Amino acid sequence: MLLEVSGLDVRYGRNHAVKSMDLTIGEGEVVTVLGANGAGKSSLLKAIQGTVKPSGGRVRLGGRDVTGWSAPRRVRDGLVLVPEGRQIFVSLTVHENLQMGAYSRREPVEAEISDIYERFPNLAQRRDMPASVLSGGEQQMLAIGRALLAKPKLMMLDEPSLGLSPILVQQLFQLIDQLNRDGLAILLVEQNTFMALQSAHRAYVLELGETVLQGTPEQLAEEEKKLEAAYLGAS
Ligand SMILES: Nc1ncnc2c1ncn2[C@@H]1O[C@H](COP(=O)(O)OP(=O)(O)OP(=O)(O)O)[C@@H](O)[C@H]1O
Ligand SMILES: [Mg+2]
Repeated sequence: MLLEVSGLDVRYGRNHAVKSMDLTIGEGEVVTVLGANGAGKSSLLKAIQGTVKPSGGRVRLGGRDVTGWSAPRRVRDGLVLVPEGRQIFVSLTVHENLQMGAYSRREPVEAEISDIYERFPNLAQRRDMPASVLSGGEQQMLAIGRALLAKPKLMMLDEPSLGLSPILVQQLFQLIDQLNRDGLAILLVEQNTFMALQSAHRAYVLELGETVLQGTPEQLAEEEKKLEAAYLGAS
């Protein structure tokens, strides 16, 4: 198993955001976590990344227990999060943002940055402009490009399609499929259930911090009614 989360708990004071969550991701898998606003999706990703301290449970990466590790150490070990809202550095240039992605690495990365520019020509054209000039879709490309420069084994994406036009959403999911074909494992948090289930091998549906459904997209389709209820936050 590439990632193994067991009994993970996240609490903010009395708010129990993630309740004893179990989740696994195998090599080369795309797994999606679906759920309504406030279901605990981002909290789960942050706890896996190590930016939020879980109140219980374990996170294993490649068989090693990383629960006590700092976030930067997890990044060095190949676990990279593209956070909700992208969080690129708007006052830095596109190129500087990409360089930031490689902060955990010692070897030169200019060749890899060139690869990113080849993949995303819009970024190449704007390499010396401040990231603040980028459109929403371009910012998402930059956030993903920056994450790729950390050489992830597992990339976690928190609602990457949010705010994108339908065409850009299509392109984003094509990119996710392509990265996965190149061997990258992906944990995708989405509210775009339809698109996420097309790309994912397996899915978990969260409701108020608990898994209410899990399985392959085919298995979930069979339980569509239940899925809809969970997605709408009704129970
Ligand atoms: N830093 C925090 N302090 C206190 N409560 C928090 C904090 N972050 C999240 N919460 C609460 O934890 C619960 C889960 O939040 P979380 O952001 O993980 O949900 P989400 O599924 O990502 O929602 P969304 O789809 O809106 O992004 C919510 O009730 C939220 O209000
Ligand atoms: Mg969220």
